[in-house]
Amino acid sequence: MSVTTRRLDTTELEERVKRMYQEVALEPEHEFHFETGRPLAERLGYPTDDLDAIPGAAIESFAGVGYFLDLAAISPGEAVLDLGSGSGTDSFVAARATGTEGRVVGVDMTEAQLAKGRRLADEHGFGQVEFRAGYIERPPVEDDGFDCVVSNGVINLSPDKSAVFEAAARALRPSGRLALADIVSQRQLPEGVTCDASLWAACIGGAMQRDGYRQAIEAAGFTIETWRENDAYRFVSERAANATKKYGVTSISLLARRH
Ligand SMILES: C[S@@+](CC[C@H](N)C(=O)[O-])C[C@H]1O[C@@H](n2cnc3c(N)ncnc32)[C@H](O)[C@@H]1O
Repeated sequence: MSVTTRRLDTTELEERVKRMYQEVALEPEHEFHFETGRPLAERLGYPTDDLDAIPGAAIESFAGVGYFLDLAAISPGEAVLDLGSGSGTDSFVAARATGTEGRVVGVDMTEAQLAKGRRLADEHGFGQVEFRAGYIERPPVEDDGFDCVVSNGVINLSPDKSAVFEAAARALRPSGRLALADIVSQRQLPEGVTCDASLWAACIGGAMQRDGYRQAIEAAGFTIETWRENDAYRFVSERAANATKKYGVTSISLLARRH
């Protein structure tokens, strides 16, 4: 008897994710499976003074899932790596905290997001922010070069989450922090969901079961110090909201420290 196992087509997934986030960069007013923009950022807990101080066009394309920069507690002069930086909302807020004596490197694989972030950094005088093309599983950065790695709503999109956490650990100096918001699930999602590239691109299909997610972080060399549920985040489309209810797909923020 032959058993057929469905597999996620990772090439199709990458194309879909790029297409979706190209649209988020270029036409943020469109409706997506998820919320975007300043109303979302405010509801998640981003302080108004931070949002007022960064480029408004970056916030229009904000597609994060939680607030975590209070956990990151970035100090002046620090070096920060933003994995999946999009159009740069978290990179620019982090840059306010590092000041010009620090630096922020945002890494993303979607060209339109990078181009928008670079243009805004240039136009708004954020000389300490640089956006690099690359993958979060193997970001183009030096080892031990960063005090803090941040990420918002991205790691759930990766088919290889262990590689992302290992890359974050490599990029951090010893005792460096990993602070992020992401989507996880209470129950293991069925193949019908995990093999659906469009549900992955909508930040649901790739949600890892929370115990496995924690274990993957710890196995990469971190101790988790804070784990917080983000009740303010919700999915928009009916399909996404149904999957969320059925499998307990939720947003969390966390702080972990490299050994
Ligand atoms: C949900 S958006 C979040 C963007 C940004 N962090 C924010 O809060 O607005 C996901 C971003 O991650 C990028 N991305 C997804 N998977 C990636 C990967 N494997 N490597 C690099 N970038 C990735 C997408 O291009 C997109 O810009």
